[in-house]
Amino acid sequence: MVPAMAHSETAVEFIPADLAPGDGKALELDCRDLDVVRVPSPHEPLFDLAYERLWDEFGPQHEMETREIVAQRLAWHPAAGIGNCWLRYELILVRRQGQFVAVRDHTAVVTCGRGAPHAVVHLSHVLVAAAWRRTGLAGWLRAWPIQTARTCLVAAGFPAASPITLVAEMEHPDPQFPNRLVRLAAYEKAGFKKMDPAAVKYFQPDFRPPQQIDASGGPRPLPFRLVLRRVGREKEEYIQGAEVREIVKCLYRMYETGFREQDMAAVWQSLQDYPDDQANLPLLAPTK
Ligand SMILES: CC(C)(COP(=O)(O)OP(=O)(O)OC[C@H]1O[C@@H](n2cnc3c(N)ncnc32)[C@H](O)[C@@H]1OP(=O)(O)O)[C@@H](O)C(=O)NCCC(=O)NCCS
Repeated sequence: MVPAMAHSETAVEFIPADLAPGDGKALELDCRDLDVVRVPSPHEPLFDLAYERLWDEFGPQHEMETREIVAQRLAWHPAAGIGNCWLRYELILVRRQGQFVAVRDHTAVVTCGRGAPHAVVHLSHVLVAAAWRRTGLAGWLRAWPIQTARTCLVAAGFPAASPITLVAEMEHPDPQFPNRLVRLAAYEKAGFKKMDPAAVKYFQPDFRPPQQIDASGGPRPLPFRLVLRRVGREKEEYIQGAEVREIVKCLYRMYETGFREQDMAAVWQSLQDYPDDQANLPLLAPTK
């Protein structure tokens, strides 16, 4: 383990065992000059830098939460007990000699959903500067959320070794949108798998501001596909209906902390059409 920064609150470690099975290239990257930091609060100058990068990339497509929602999530630090789960949000910024290299954010949601503690980490956004793409850095960015999950588990009073699932929402592959294919190819190479969209019709809540939602006649949840890594279980090719439901409930619990109840109602309702708890569902390659 190589600590990236001395300060324990903001330090992010490079832990080879956390890398996804297909992310071995990350080990070849010389990380010594990289300054990797968890942005601790919205009042830090680093917050503006990190948020603005994410907003510029994802805001115009309504794929980025508002500054207020992100600030509210940072205030959960070290973890907040909300309802029957614990949440921890992190915004990680990578720089080299003061220059932007990458940014990512994610939320760990810890529950005792099916009788035993489990952490689901929602991989919200990741952006790697063009010069740093395909260098191996993205592999570390996919691994760091596991540290967030462990910290959240411990804050909730559970063992750090409890099961952890990383999950990302992805658009369907479409040759007209080459960026989507790049994202999906990257996750596929890392070893992530996709829930079968024929069986699991997942909807993301409407990210637009409430006034805009109301002016347009109500929320428009967006269909997405879920791509996941069950840490330590990457080779398993099936997932049970009950596990799918638990993962999606964790995502919706996170979203409902920032969105209005009326804007969440339709996505909660969509769970009723999910496969039975006992269903054994195939996991697919993300680009298929
Ligand atoms: C998505 C993103 C984070 C991936 O990071 P990356 O450093 O570019 O890619 P990775 O190193 O993870 O790529 C892994 C594999 O994916 C495939 N891949 C990645 N980029 C590719 C490209 N432009 N063309 C074809 N295949 C590509 C390759 O198989 C690659 O492995 P290789 O480099 O050993 O051949 C980065 O491209 C990015 O910041 N994109 C813009 C923002 C975005 O789309 N974020 C994701 C959604 S939140």
